[in-house]
This record gives sequence, structure tokens and C-alpha cells, in this order.
Amino acid sequence: MFRAGLIISVFLIITGYSFFSATKPADIPEQIIKQRLLLQIDSLFADIHNLQSAINGKATQTELQQVFLHTRLSYKKIEWAAEYFTPNISRFVNGPPVPEVELSGQVFDPRGLQVIEGELYPKYNLKYRKQLIAQTKQLADDVADIKTYFKKIDLYNWQVFDAIKLEMFRIITLGIAGFDDPLSENSMGESATSVINLKDVMANYTQNKNDYGLNSALTAAANYLQKNTAFNNFNPALFITRYGNPVTISLTKLQQHSNLPVVKYNRLLNQSASTLFDKDAFNVNAYAPSPEYFVTDKRIALGKKLFADPVLSGTASRSCASCHKPNMAFTDGLVKNIDITGKGTIARNTPTLLNAALQPALFYDLRAASLEDQALAVVQSKTEMHGDMKISATKLWQDKQYRELFTAAYPNKSRTAIDTLEVMNALGSYIRSLITLNSRFDQYMQGNEKAMNRTELNGFNLFMGKARCGTCHYMPLFNGTFPPKFNRIEAEVIGVPKSKTDKSIDPDMGLYAIQPLPHYKYAFKTTTVRNAAQTAPYMHNGVFTTLEEVIDFYNKGGGAGEGIRVNNQTLTATPLHLTEKEKKELIAFIKALDSK
Ligand code: HEC
Ligand code: HEC
Repeated sequence: MFRAGLIISVFLIITGYSFFSATKPADIPEQIIKQRLLLQIDSLFADIHNLQSAINGKATQTELQQVFLHTRLSYKKIEWAAEYFTPNISRFVNGPPVPEVELSGQVFDPRGLQVIEGELYPKYNLKYRKQLIAQTKQLADDVADIKTYFKKIDLYNWQVFDAIKLEMFRIITLGIAGFDDPLSENSMGESATSVINLKDVMANYTQNKNDYGLNSALTAAANYLQKNTAFNNFNPALFITRYGNPVTISLTKLQQHSNLPVVKYNRLLNQSASTLFDKDAFNVNAYAPSPEYFVTDKRIALGKKLFADPVLSGTASRSCASCHKPNMAFTDGLVKNIDITGKGTIARNTPTLLNAALQPALFYDLRAASLEDQALAVVQSKTEMHGDMKISATKLWQDKQYRELFTAAYPNKSRTAIDTLEVMNALGSYIRSLITLNSRFDQYMQGNEKAMNRTELNGFNLFMGKARCGTCHYMPLFNGTFPPKFNRIEAEVIGVPKSKTDKSIDPDMGLYAIQPLPHYKYAFKTTTVRNAAQTAPYMHNGVFTTLEEVIDFYNKGGGAGEGIRVNNQTLTATPLHLTEKEKKELIAFIKALDSK
């Protein structure tokens, strides 16, 4: 699973005080939590050393696996802090076993716990011994960097609350989906360890106080995870609604009543969200160019008009809505739309725009970092609209109605023209208004148990469990936007064939055409499954006509599973062995993701 090369940094709106000032007065919970964390990092070190001794001492496979599982549990205890404060190191400690790419383009070989897992499971082979020794040494070095960091910084109470909440979101989106231990499959045990540790951390705040039910919610969640350890029989829907959500709701209440000073970020997941399913959990402005371009009603209305107006195309014959039809979930129902000359087709299938604004990067190959960049790219694309933003802006300025609308929507300027960024931002604002996280699934997660039936719930549980869909289509956006920070979006190689009859790999290179790294060949953004019942045909090339075909493709292990030659597929090529009933349940669930 590839870091898309675009890690979008958040910008601060309000800065309370400098982050890690050394002059901070001693504050009891923060000090205790920090000291405990340092001790836990030492235990992780001890486990890594045990693992090294076991490898050197030629321990048996079972012994090695046991020490390894213990090491993972030790990491789970510090995960809440490591992921929050040192994400650039923790991605090497427990990131997916694929190369990591920096913004600079520098590539790091896969390393960390998940690589080690791959060398110990399903079977340990002595030929991996040398690699294991190198891997564990690297792991110890990375953990040492985490320790150095925590020794140097002060933690703030609000950060602890924020980090603990994100860890709970991590557990319900990734932990129980088996995201980071696909082979050792101890997901529920590991998640239980994380939750128990969260309880211990929060005990520093809840003693002798009204804790808004936090302690008992954490205890109940840990108990449930400890009692229900079988991965394929786990019930994520029940766990999230009865145990996961109550934890973060209590935590948010406790935080609100503690009156802690908080530094606010402009980030995609609102800091105030008490669950991932709150009506306003996600912030549409997170990826706007800057605060002066945040969404307003006037900008949305203007963008809506522009969206349907052919004025933006070079031939004045085509608007955005020609391909993104509002009554078809903003797609067109075609395999590929025709190009502007009317003679050929454009390169890819038209994607939905519903909830598209909640992505840190856009297009199947993630080449646009904002909706504004994307609007520019589409208008100026020779095949799609063959327009010119500057000429369009001039034309719009000459039109009395548009001139008034732009002046009203962007008032703080003495204007003599319309700025191209304003045109792009108006379109972007309209797309930012197309957030529809209001499906029956969302209603269920918000507590309406009647919103989904048994078949659909079984489908959700398969999606998060046996069928492994949730390890790429992350909840709750169901695309590659990576929880719980939601600040990067991932691309994957699933081996989409050229056509239904020609089972060779589709020649579209995906991310590789933007950044020619070998593992980016045929990698595409993980698109959303929300509204998929309305967005056929599927995949970047529109090869599949029905959801049944999509499920069959995954059931066989994607392209590689079907015998297509693709040596870097990130989707496991092992068949899923779904029964006919299970396939139907998955599709029923996908239909429950339709927006209202
Ligand atoms: C000819 C058909 C066509 C027209 C016209 C068109 N689009 Fe698109 N749109 C596409 C296709 C195809 C893609 C995917 C392209 C890719 O990923 O390389 C796309 C992608 C997008 C995306 C990115 C979605 C995502 O999730 O990554 C947005 C946003 C978008 N279009 C908005 C617009 C806007 C705004 C306009 C008008 C200025 C427009 N489109 C005009 C076909 C079209
Ligand atoms: C290894 C990661 C991965 C896994 C696991 C995965 N997907 Fe996907 N999915 C993707 C990627 C990447 C795409 C986009 C591929 C493309 O456009 O070529 C995609 C596309 C889709 C689409 C098409 C969306 C559209 O509008 O075109 C659907 C539907 C879908 N997946 C459903 C599922 C289901 C159901 C499962 C579980 C059985 C699943 N996926 C498992 C990565 C994954």
C-alpha cells in the first residue's frame, strides 16, 4: 500500500502557544504519562532484543512467532503516541511491507514489523535468517529514534486526548480489519491490548472525577475484544456501535468538560468529532488553498452554475456536467466518455464527485493535490475540455451576470478582472458542497439500528473481515484516504485486466506515469465504494459492468489470481472463497452505502 507521494500538511488556524516549549511547568498527568511511555518503549526494546537472541539462538518457528507476537503487543502499547507524535518513524516500525516514498522522491525499502511478519509467517524459513537479523537491527534503531523524541518533548494534555481518540478511531477502522497483521491474525488480541493501555493512560485524568463513562466504556470494549478473537467471526458493526463509539463519545465529553487549552488545526477529521460518523465529522475546507478560499454559499452557487456552463470548454460545447451528471451520482454510465473532437474516447472512466472533496489528492493517479489544481487540469486537457483558464476568466469578466456573481462571491478585492484561481475555487467550492455521508450505513452507525437489515450487516462484516475490502477501502470514506489522520490517500495494484475477454494487464501505467518508480506500475488510487451501486461501469478503464463482476474479480485474487502477469500486485492473489450468499451480502452492503 503506497504512500501516494503526497502527504498534505495541515495548516494551523489558531496557534495557542508554541508546541514543544521547554519552559512548560510540570503537570502531573502529562509527566506520569510521559514517564510511563518511556518505560514502555524500553520494554519494546527488550522484546526486540529477545527476538534477536531467538533468531541467533536458532529458536524454533513456534518460539520465534511467540516472541514476535509479544513484540507486536509491546508496540501496540505505545502506538497511540508513536503514531500521533512520530508518524515519520512509526511508519517504518509498523507500516505496510511496501517501499516508502518521501515527498522528495527518495524511496526506502520495506522495513518494520510487517516485513518481519512476512518472514515468520505462515512458515519460518531459515533462508530468511540474515534478513531477519538486519530487519530487527533496523527496528531497534527506529524505536531508538522514537525514544529520543519522547525524551526531548513535553506532552500536552489536549494532545494526549487527541492522540487517544485517534487511536480508538485507528482500532475501529484498521485494527479490527486486520490491517497491520494480515498473516499472524491476532487483530482482536492486539486491539484489546491497545484499548487496555488507553484505559491506563486515561486513568490519569479520570480518578475521583466524573469521567462521563469513559473508564467503563474502555473496559467493555477491551472485554469484548478479548472474548471475540476469531477474525472471520468478528462482528465489526456491533463492536463499533456498542463499544467503539461510546468510548470516543465519552472521551470527547470529558475533554469538553476539562476546559483544556487546545490548538486547532485545519484538518480533514474535525478535532471536535466525537465519532467518525458525526454529521460534521469531516471538514470540507481541509484541502482548500487557504482560509480566504473556504466554502461560502455564494461560491457554491457560482460554482454550480459554472459546472453546467459550456463556457469553460474551448469549443463551448461541453461542460463539467456533460460527463459528471448530477442525476447519475456525477458519473456518465459510460466505459469512457468521448473526447472533445467526438472521434475518440478519453483515457479513463468518469469517477463520481460525491465526497470527492474529502480526498488529499485527486485523479486515479493522484496527480492533483487540490480541487483547484484538478479543475485547471480538466479545463485545459486537450481531450476533455480543451479550454484555457485565462481565456475563460476573461470571457466570464465580460459577462455582466458572472462579473456580479464573482464580485459578490470574492468581495475583498478591488477588481478589474476575474482571477483564474477564483474560477477554479468556485468549481472547487461546488464540489466541496457535494458531501453526502448520509447513507443508511451512516444512519446505522449513528445509532439507528433499523437502518440496515441482517443481510446488509453481514455484508459489512465481510467487507471488514473475510473479504478484506476494508484494508484498502478504509472506513468511513471507503476509499484510500488513510485513517485516523486522513491526511494521505493510497494507491494499490489490483491487476485490472484490459477487457473482459483480453486477460492481459490494462496498459494504463497509473501512478508510474507521474512518478516512475517500479512499484508504482499499474497502481491506482483506491476509489470510493460509496454510491458504487450507481457508478457502473467500474475501475479506471470501466472494464467491469456490474458489482457482481467486481466481486468475482476480487474473489479470484484480482488480476494475479486470475493468472494475469503482474508481479507487484498489492492485493493478495489468494482467492477469498466467498460463497454465493456472501457475495450477495457484500453487494447488499454496498447498496446500503448509497447517499440519500
Ligand atoms: C470528458 C469528460 C469529463 C469532463 C468534461 C469533466 N470531467 Fe472531471 N473527470 C473525468 C475523468 C475521466 C476523470 C478521471 C481522470 C483521471 O483520473 O485521470 C475526472 C476526474 C475529475 C475529478 C477528480 C475526482 C477524483 O475523485 O479523483 C474531479 C473533481 C472532476 N473530474 C471535476 C470536474 C470538473 C470541475 C469539470 C469541469 C471543469 C470536469 N470534471 C469535467 C471526466 C470529465
Ligand atoms: C489491495 C487493495 C484493495 C482491496 C483489498 C480491495 N480493493 Fe476495491 N479497489 C482498489 C483499487 C486500487 C481500486 C481502483 C482500481 C482502478 O480504478 O483500476 C478499487 C476499486 C473498487 C471498486 C470500483 C469503484 C468504481 O467506482 O470504479 C469497487 C466497487 C471495489 N473496489 C470494491 C471492493 C470490494 C467489495 C472489495 C473486497 C472484496 C475490495 N474492493 C477490495 C483497491 C482494493
